[in-house]
Amino acid sequence: MIDTRALPKAELHVHIEGTFEPAQIFEFAQRNNVKLAYPSVAALEEAYKFTDLQSFLNLYYAAMAAIRTERDFEELATAYLQRAQSQGVKHAEIFFDPQAHLERGLSFDTVINGLWAALQRSSSDFGITTALIMCFLRDQPEASAMQTLEFALPHRDKIIAVGLDSAELGNPPSKFQAVFDRARAAGFLTVAHAGEEGPPEYVWEALNLLKVSRVDHGVRSMEDPMLVKHLAQTQIPLTVCPLSNVRLRVVDRMQDHPLKRMMDAGLRCTVNSDDPAYFGGYVADNYSAVYDALQLTDDDLVQLARNSFTSSFMDDATKQRYIDEIDGAVAAI
Ligand code: ADE
Ligand code: ZN
Repeated sequence: MIDTRALPKAELHVHIEGTFEPAQIFEFAQRNNVKLAYPSVAALEEAYKFTDLQSFLNLYYAAMAAIRTERDFEELATAYLQRAQSQGVKHAEIFFDPQAHLERGLSFDTVINGLWAALQRSSSDFGITTALIMCFLRDQPEASAMQTLEFALPHRDKIIAVGLDSAELGNPPSKFQAVFDRARAAGFLTVAHAGEEGPPEYVWEALNLLKVSRVDHGVRSMEDPMLVKHLAQTQIPLTVCPLSNVRLRVVDRMQDHPLKRMMDAGLRCTVNSDDPAYFGGYVADNYSAVYDALQLTDDDLVQLARNSFTSSFMDDATKQRYIDEIDGAVAAI
């Protein structure tokens, strides 16, 4: 296997709140006088045994209580970028969940200004270009998403797209059609988590009603042959997160993961980390895990890295520069 960390890649599906490492959770909690439900880092890590998406989300939202200030958001993002650099990430399109912070009494500006401060230094400090994607929590009412979109409008230049995440089952994309219409009218691109725990019908809705440029996860698309055909024809990218799918029991074992079958069906797949602090690995670790379990070839890994750039929201000339970088790196490996 080629060194997956040496392969230049883009990361297109990472929740910044999902990069909150246990030690940093405790550091922020202490600094901000927040009392956590766990006495130690070891006790917290002991709780990272998930049975489904909701069991993870419960802990994910609970840990966010430790994040209070602009400085916290800046340090959280900076720590991620530093780790991403060591994983060969050259470009990152990063999700954030403003509603999870607004409901704790933080202001939208605290969140965005902290993240933005880190991202502005990303290129010079870590050699990583970045973009922000604001996700709406699908288990909250659409009115809350609409209000969040209003808060974001003065920061339109800092946010490239809106997305949809949190508890999927029972919260179909159709619930958010109006807010996505408004977001697109305001100039945002759109993406959505769909087909992670939810059925293929949710992927169709994300495509047809929310007009997404990418589908996040999308692994359950494989259950619908018409959808597979459509995704292959349109080359709409899927941001697949293998370690996440195993840890959240979307698949039983990595050997059962559909990634290779998706690639063989002609789908434009990318590999990403989702919530790396919780799922046992960052993006290059995800590449290595699928290589081992699914008998991928080095060419498959290179294809996934190429897809990560072609599926990004960068302009074509910039994408090509990064793809040339892959070719250079492969020649050197
Ligand atoms: N929020 C953070 N990670 C998520 C995931 N894997 N699915 C849905 N919402 C999320
Ligand atoms: Zn996700």
